[in-house]
Amino acid sequence: MSRLQDDPQAIKAAVRAHYGNAIQTAGDCCGPTNSSCCGPTSTEIALYGEATIADLPAEMVTASFGCGNSLALAQLQPGEVALDLGSGGGLEVLLASRQVGSEGFVYGLDMTDAMLETARRNAEKADARNVSFLKGDIEAIPLPDQSVDVILSNCVINLAPDKGQVLNDAFRVLKPGGRLAVSDIVFDGDLDDLPVAEAELRTALSWSGCFAGALTMNHYRALLEAAGFTAIDLTVTKRYASENLRAQALVSEGALSEQALVALDGRITSCAITARRPE
Ligand SMILES: C[S@@+](CC[C@H](N)C(=O)[O-])C[C@H]1O[C@@H](n2cnc3c(N)ncnc32)[C@H](O)[C@@H]1O
Repeated sequence: MSRLQDDPQAIKAAVRAHYGNAIQTAGDCCGPTNSSCCGPTSTEIALYGEATIADLPAEMVTASFGCGNSLALAQLQPGEVALDLGSGGGLEVLLASRQVGSEGFVYGLDMTDAMLETARRNAEKADARNVSFLKGDIEAIPLPDQSVDVILSNCVINLAPDKGQVLNDAFRVLKPGGRLAVSDIVFDGDLDDLPVAEAELRTALSWSGCFAGALTMNHYRALLEAAGFTAIDLTVTKRYASENLRAQALVSEGALSEQALVALDGRITSCAITARRPE
């Protein structure tokens, strides 16, 4: 039987369909819905703070599917150019646009039409003039070399079939000295100590739910280094309990043994990832 993880085009089609639907039902999301990985307004308040999101269009706030706060990691400065990989409904782009101000600019990049439509509508409502939402694939960023000061991304890179290519292209578009500020789902520890083969584990987990495609921390670091990044830091910000994965259908019913689920408990994490393109 062919497996989703072996077919990059099938992965992208499934992710596009999932998020195209999710933005219309806003609530079906990345990771457990009662976790910091997405969803309801209370989650965005926890991630960004009530004051930060207070005057944004309500539908923009609830149409958020992140697993952390990459904006806080980015420490954006007035006048900077930022790019959000997998910008979804556009919440972080809009928040970033306020931080970089009228002298700065923020691009959002996403491959899902319904997400782009929502983001553009919300940016218009918020009268944000220093933003642009681009359609495209984060594996082939449609921006010139060395054109961006900061790359943001919230719960997206795990969804890409070729994460090495995403990080290579992120490096390409960053200016020398530019920063990467990413929140992503990552496995803590190597997978070969789990009582289940990696391929079987990935087949059992949900890809669109952001778990099946997650890298290990070591693999993430190695891909960042291979792309040329320095000052790399990965810090776990949240750990997911196996019972949540099961309760929210992020692992297929009966696909993993009890022993495997116990071993997996807390090993899937939200991670804050920062790195720099050397001067
Ligand atoms: C989990 S959502 C996160 C959205 C947003 N960052 C947030 O925090 O709300 C993932 C988003 O990434 C987009 N995406 C996934 N894979 C992509 C790819 N290869 N290229 C471009 N966009 C992608 C999806 O369309 C979706 O909007």
